[in-house]
Amino acid sequence: MKRKFTALFIAVIIGMNGVTPATAMTQPDAAYAKHAMVASNHPIASQIGVDVLKKGGNAVDAAIAVGLALAVVYPEAGNIGGGGFMLIRKPDGTATSIDYREMAPAAATRDMYVDEKGELKRGEGGSTVGYRASGVPGTLSGFEMAFKKYGSGKVRWSELVEPARAVAANGYVLTHRLANLFQDYKQTLSKYPESNRIFLRNGRYFQAGEVLRQPDLARTLARVKLRGAADFYRGETARLIAADMKANDGLITLDDLRNYKARERSPLRGNYRGHEIVTMAPPSSGGVVLLQVLNMLEGFNMRAAGSGSAARFHLLTETFRRAFADRAEYMADPDFADVPAEQLIDKKYAEQRRSSIKLDRADRSASIKFGNASAMKEGSETTHFNVVDKDGMVVSNTYTINDLYGSRVTIKGTGVLMNDEMDDFAARPGTPNIYGLIQGERNKVEGGKRPLSSMTPTIVLTRDGNFWFATGARGGPRIISAVTQIVQNVIDYDMNLQEAISAPRIHHQWLPDELWQEKYGMSPDTRSILERYGHKFRERQDNVASATGIMRVIPRQSANAAASAGATDSGPANSGSGMLLGAIDPRSDGAAIGY
Ligand code: GLY
Repeated sequence: MKRKFTALFIAVIIGMNGVTPATAMTQPDAAYAKHAMVASNHPIASQIGVDVLKKGGNAVDAAIAVGLALAVVYPEAGNIGGGGFMLIRKPDGTATSIDYREMAPAAATRDMYVDEKGELKRGEGGSTVGYRASGVPGTLSGFEMAFKKYGSGKVRWSELVEPARAVAANGYVLTHRLANLFQDYKQTLSKYPESNRIFLRNGRYFQAGEVLRQPDLARTLARVKLRGAADFYRGETARLIAADMKANDGLITLDDLRNYKARERSPLRGNYRGHEIVTMAPPSSGGVVLLQVLNMLEGFNMRAAGSGSAARFHLLTETFRRAFADRAEYMADPDFADVPAEQLIDKKYAEQRRSSIKLDRADRSASIKFGNASAMKEGSETTHFNVVDKDGMVVSNTYTINDLYGSRVTIKGTGVLMNDEMDDFAARPGTPNIYGLIQGERNKVEGGKRPLSSMTPTIVLTRDGNFWFATGARGGPRIISAVTQIVQNVIDYDMNLQEAISAPRIHHQWLPDELWQEKYGMSPDTRSILERYGHKFRERQDNVASATGIMRVIPRQSANAAASAGATDSGPANSGSGMLLGAIDPRSDGAAIGY
């Protein structure tokens, strides 16, 4: 059941976000499947995942194969040189998560990205490009941990790596979007000889329809297929990474690679209007901010406000403003800093934070400080994919190399593009990073620490506790606002997941104090109401993140009864009841494929 995906062919790329502008948006055909589904940002990766499921692999096995395939066919964000979070809900209803976020090399220090004048270093030596921008990658360690603990045992590791290796060796046809995206990044990619050779063909740029082969990456994957993650952290690939780092003044050593550890963590759990939300705990801020905002919104009649209304966008802005102010103060790697996650997602705390919101007046971010959470009881660019298997196991996975093409460095002899995740630390605590986000001392750079993330892989349950939908997004801090609005679109506005993902969104992140509107995402009269309330709009109208998801379609028990109660009962009315619906964002590309 392959979807047509019109936006793939008409996409026009904008530089910074790697997300197609709203002009390219065409409502995709919905993809339905009876048993199992994969939704990712590339059709080859989704098909590889479905093949694993058909062989008897479970959702975790398939997610690993998809993740490895995206490292080949989606080099802007798919990776083995980065890290992320895999949220897993097992068929028995229990949930866990694998944190395979990058770790700062041991030699990293608080002020390593600040020059003698106290200015942020730009370019090589800074936190966004070049050899010093990378944290120690976690992807293979995380995938191997997931495989050993939660794989089906019915497919071998080598069977999960081989499809990606084969595509790297044999090549794949570049779409218009991918071929152009390499060129959009030529200024920085060309500075690094291996990236220049592989992705820019030394200046003979790829055109749509040409085949990209990655023999170095194929050889790396062949070693990983044989020796597992050990090759990357202790074997030949580790040796090549450490040697290239040393030759180019990078910090990652053989010891750093050897010491990398993925961590299993309990997911965060909250609820919105009776629906349990399972999401990612720190070191991602995504789950905490998502739950904080939903908790605050629960106190308003959002259904009555209406999905495209000024009232809704106002309340979203004011709740984001408060939650992001808290994020800046409180969030960081919990292994290094005191992070009051449970207090921040407490409903009473939300009540307190909500109480200062005015219904017809915007606050200024400068006057909104972080809340007193301790009084309570106790980039960016990324890709998200989802898998649901025939037994109901669900994986919601977001991973990243941070900015598109990460640090732009491809490690010599490996084909591995490295992340620039060090930029997710507060390079200069108290001042804005490239997204304009301010972060405090808790998230300062320290050796061995994980940088704070916004990734928000999320699973939402029906009121009777069964799987309803899984979603997540790419887009730095905009991930959080996108996931919030998608969850709300389904629960408050009865949209199916494709509608919820396609619908226009807004973004606000406390500082800078500006409201992001998508192109054509808001009517002029809605905007003028918001301006009258005092909201300041960002001049540039970019898309707010790009998401994927899978939903189990369930009949709405009684739309009217639910509406009068101010909440849906059990989901949107929809054809295809009982089927899985795969959803891809028209703002980007990809494919949902099931069987
Ligand atoms: N690098 C983007 C994030 O982790 O949120």
